[in-house]
Amino acid sequence: MRAVADDLVLVTGAAGFIGSHLVARLLADGHRVVAVDDLSTGRLDNLAPARAQAGEGRLQFDHLDVTSDAFDGLVGRMRPAAIVHLAAQVDVRTSVERPLEDARHNILGTLQVLEAARRHGVRRVVYAASIAGYGDPPADRIPLTEDVTTPPISPYGASKRAGGDYVLAYGATHGVEGVVLTLANVYGPHQSTAGEGGVVAIFTGRMLAGAPCTVFGDGEQTRDFVFVDDVVDAFARAVRVPEAAGERLLVGTGVATTVTALFGHVAAATDYPHAPIVAPERPGEVRHSVVDPSRARSVLGWAPWTDVPAGVAATVAWAARAGDR
Ligand SMILES: NC(=O)c1ccc[n+]([C@@H]2O[C@H](COP(=O)([O-])OP(=O)(O)OC[C@H]3O[C@@H](n4cnc5c(N)ncnc54)[C@H](O)[C@@H]3O)[C@@H](O)[C@H]2O)c1
Repeated sequence: MRAVADDLVLVTGAAGFIGSHLVARLLADGHRVVAVDDLSTGRLDNLAPARAQAGEGRLQFDHLDVTSDAFDGLVGRMRPAAIVHLAAQVDVRTSVERPLEDARHNILGTLQVLEAARRHGVRRVVYAASIAGYGDPPADRIPLTEDVTTPPISPYGASKRAGGDYVLAYGATHGVEGVVLTLANVYGPHQSTAGEGGVVAIFTGRMLAGAPCTVFGDGEQTRDFVFVDDVVDAFARAVRVPEAAGERLLVGTGVATTVTALFGHVAAATDYPHAPIVAPERPGEVRHSVVDPSRARSVLGWAPWTDVPAGVAATVAWAARAGDR
């Protein structure tokens, strides 16, 4: 068997929001990158900055579904040292309406990635899990820590949780080192208005267009908004820090921001003059959500840099430029 390529990282979901930033970061760190995406929600133009920055032969893109046999063939040909598995169906509503489709991407897809890793000697698989996997924990368990065991309340939460469990199980059973990063509400450039945690993208798009913006409920529900560049830094560390193997780590800021406060930050950055439209609270929505990132800090030496006003300003600046094109 040909040796594993030490500097090569394969990223699934690479043309998506987080994946496209991660590819750029891994290239900047000196890795060669194989970027895989089925382009179901991802966009090739998200990878344009990474492509422009990559030297000759350092970035390749493969338009593939991770559940296909072709994916296994690719891993066998390229022999990456690590896979960062971000490819997923990320829409909670889709998971409720079509749970089998959700499971095909999120559970079977993760298993296919792990099987390919096992067969072809990939040393490490880093997986993006979601706080949706922790359901709606009681108030006394917030901020959320890794030991919370409350069950998921959506098929998406269940499929993402299961994916992380499989990743750690492959470490125990087959020696494929697994790292599970459980992400809070990620936001930043390249995020689409659909899917999970898209409220920053939605407010930004609507406020830049001068369109009405809706806040559901009293606006006092809280979220832990973490900027994509900080999340990508956690992934870059998870690829290389030896002690991260076998860990499940929460990645967020530890700061709770109300939806009303977020509305204010986006309004300030876009000069939006209107008040929000207030609509009834949506059923099934978690009231408070914030994570304790202490473990990620100690295991990865990681800390978020970007507060919400700065991250929102960067997101608005990108969206305004993207809108001009
Ligand atoms: N954005 C967040 O706030 C957040 C929070 C928690 C967890 N996550 C997780 O982070 C990861 C990335 O999320 P994102 O926000 O960048 O979403 P995204 O939709 O922008 O990216 C997912 C990418 O995966 C691709 N994809 C989906 N199914 C595929 C398949 N079967 N084969 C190949 N490619 C496939 C899509 O085309 C897309 O480009 C996901 O695993 C998601 O569950 C995101």
